[in-house]
Amino acid sequence: MFKLAPSILAADFARLGEQIAQVEAAGADELHIDVMDGMFVPSISFGMPVIESVRKITKMFFDVHLMIMEPVRYLEEFVKAGADSITVHAEACENLKETVLKVKDLGVRVGVSIKPDTPISALAEVEQLVDRVLVMTVNPGFGGQKLIPECVEKVTELAAHRKQIGATFDIQVDGGIGLSNVKSVAEAGAEVFVAGTAVFRGDIISNVKAFKEEVGVAD
Ligand code: DX5
Ligand code: ZN
Repeated sequence: MFKLAPSILAADFARLGEQIAQVEAAGADELHIDVMDGMFVPSISFGMPVIESVRKITKMFFDVHLMIMEPVRYLEEFVKAGADSITVHAEACENLKETVLKVKDLGVRVGVSIKPDTPISALAEVEQLVDRVLVMTVNPGFGGQKLIPECVEKVTELAAHRKQIGATFDIQVDGGIGLSNVKSVAEAGAEVFVAGTAVFRGDIISNVKAFKEEVGVAD
């Protein structure tokens, strides 16, 4: 039921292949891939060429988090590069529904994300269409930030709302997730946990195992 998605943003890019092999061997469920454009968020990370390269060395599920303005412009390219799921930001799309439908047409899973200040009402037009809602637990742009507690309340609210409307999306959280808070975020209703720093700092294999034990899905 619970899934761990290590974010490669926190990896050592000089040893990226090796570190992905480690998270895979340790039993991580998905690989979280943060794409930043320097416009929607202040920072720039990496794009299709990196995804294409790592696609060749692993069969892991690629969970691509697009922190870019008007992602509709690049959806085909991200699918070609190897994405299994594409998450777009509600705040970054002029036409959110059209963007979500286009991802679905391309035959991959689709997610929608909201920043800490965005209410769950922003999801209304797509909440019955998406496979995943990503509740940001920090302001997107950088790894290594502290989780904002109010965002956990938003997870509780979203889980209740999902039940009320009978939707089937999973709830993912991203930002500042670590061993000290993953359990309470799971209790709030989150099912998929992104973790960058908490996985890639220190011993990767034991970090992944500790995470999975903490939420009760040890391999
Ligand atoms: C933040 C990114 C996150 C980030 C998480 O903008 O979307 O995926 O890499 O990193 P940590 O787990 O270090 O907060
Ligand atoms: Zn992310």
